[in-house]
Amino acid sequence: ILKDGILSVPPVTPPEESIDVASFDFNKDKSTVSITVVGASGDLAKKKIFPALFALYYEGCLPEHFTIFGYARSKMTDAELRTMVSKTLTCRIDQRENCGEKMDHFLERCFYHPGQYDSPENFLELDKKLKEHEAGRVANRLFYLSIPPNIFIDAVKCASSSASSAKGWTRVIVEKPFGRDSESSSALTRSLKQYLDEDQIFRIDHYLGKELVENLSVLRFSNLIFEPLWSRQYIRNVQFIFAEDFGTEGRGGYFDNYGIIRDIMQNHLLQILALFAMETPVSLDAEDIRNEKVKVLRSMRPLRLDDVVTGQYKSHTRGGVKYPAYIDDKTVPNDSLTPTFAAAALFIDNARWDGVPFLMKAGKALHDRRTEIRVQFRHVPGNLYNKNIGPGLDVATNELVIRVQPDEAIYLKINNKVPGLGMRLDRSNLNLLYAARYSKEIPDAYERLLLDAIEGERRLFIRSDELDAAWSLFTPVLKELDDKKIVPEYYPYGSRGPVGSHYLAARYKVQWG
Ligand code: NDP
Ligand code: BG6
Repeated sequence: ILKDGILSVPPVTPPEESIDVASFDFNKDKSTVSITVVGASGDLAKKKIFPALFALYYEGCLPEHFTIFGYARSKMTDAELRTMVSKTLTCRIDQRENCGEKMDHFLERCFYHPGQYDSPENFLELDKKLKEHEAGRVANRLFYLSIPPNIFIDAVKCASSSASSAKGWTRVIVEKPFGRDSESSSALTRSLKQYLDEDQIFRIDHYLGKELVENLSVLRFSNLIFEPLWSRQYIRNVQFIFAEDFGTEGRGGYFDNYGIIRDIMQNHLLQILALFAMETPVSLDAEDIRNEKVKVLRSMRPLRLDDVVTGQYKSHTRGGVKYPAYIDDKTVPNDSLTPTFAAAALFIDNARWDGVPFLMKAGKALHDRRTEIRVQFRHVPGNLYNKNIGPGLDVATNELVIRVQPDEAIYLKINNKVPGLGMRLDRSNLNLLYAARYSKEIPDAYERLLLDAIEGERRLFIRSDELDAAWSLFTPVLKELDDKKIVPEYYPYGSRGPVGSHYLAARYKVQWG
């Protein structure tokens, strides 16, 4: 704009809406999608799956014609399912805009069929009901297996033989755990493949649906400043941290059979690591991305027991409140050695990452709740400003932090001059705090993943060879921990975890962020 002879650039309002690269229009064709939540009476279905489906409906992301069925052994009517589901639905997007009405419409599309997981007859009854709702349209069917893993195969067998779609697609979302070691995972994959093709299987790792995890590739591959630094040449170490400030409350029975390494590290943290460390994929196509992730996983050095620290929380009283020990859970044996905390040092033996420690830490009942990726850079060689810090001290190194949750943020710690006449350096943050930058609420991971499964987008789901590679890395150590009955280091509920994790980090000249 030229005004009074002065050239000024109009302020640019940054667009809040991203470019929709995968736009779609279900309603163009006259097909329908039937979604069956198998295990609909369970915790995950209530807490995550139905609310995510509602959010998709609310956002207009579900096709015009869709039906949702709950399936489980519990006796329930359609009305009872709706009452159960309605308790956990929220209008996260806009409280004012016809929320109640939309909920009612959504609930009208939800039905329930009681049945056994191993009964072809019960699934045939379900098939009959689905057909009534599909009303002659080309039917696409999605089954979400929200059930314990020991009944996955029964349910898949029955769903595929008695309730798969005749003309449209049939897809099955499988929840973790996908086995508990290489052997059981391969057996599960073999069994699933008796009834389904690999492209029908959607192995969910909900961390891949988290906004900041999805953003990792955008950050790396769409910003010139990061990718050139993304290697051993500039990065000293990378940390993947998962912390929860509550214990295994209510899930002790499941947890005791798995432990934190299988529950969090082998899947959620390792998946993030693979996305972080992979080479540039040929394209954003699911196979191209998963090919790169597999390469990283296969390049990883076998994990040694020496590079693993385990812990288990013990009871602790604070402010007059007694917090329980892990073994206080009635479903956990008193002598359980199952780790509720673990730290590990991993290495990727390839040209890009040779010698860079990738440290992982995951724990329950710690002092805070957070999931972060912390990238610590090398020091600036011959830094001119070291003398301004103090004798024998070095200017702090840069650190990039990607806070996956809570308070999603990306910030870069830099050294800055403290304003004034002197020369003093200060460590400051270049901070992208999502809540301050974007007004729209971040969708839940399950929304993204359910939508992708409906669209047939496999990018964020785990392929069987990725799964094999992930288990190959952890199985030997898990076996050693079991065989040698390694006693975990006990840490008080609400603490920072075992000190052993600091010794492990120190061995690689790293300090946890
Ligand atoms: P639940 O233990 O609540 O089980 C879901 C349903 O399965 C139950 O309502 C029950 O329905 C049926 N069921 C439970 N135990 C058995 C059994 N032994 N034999 C037959 N049916 C059984 O599981 P969640 O909802 O917590 O989790 C579902 C899946 O998702 C699991 O694989 C879990 O590991 C995974 N997961 C769960 C998370 C969570 O936060 N809950 C997080 C991540 C993964 P009915 O009796 O009516 O048939
Ligand atoms: C699940 C684990 O996969 O992830 C739980 O089984 C854990 O133990 C949960 O609590 C954490 O998920 P989120 O999305 O709440 O961080």
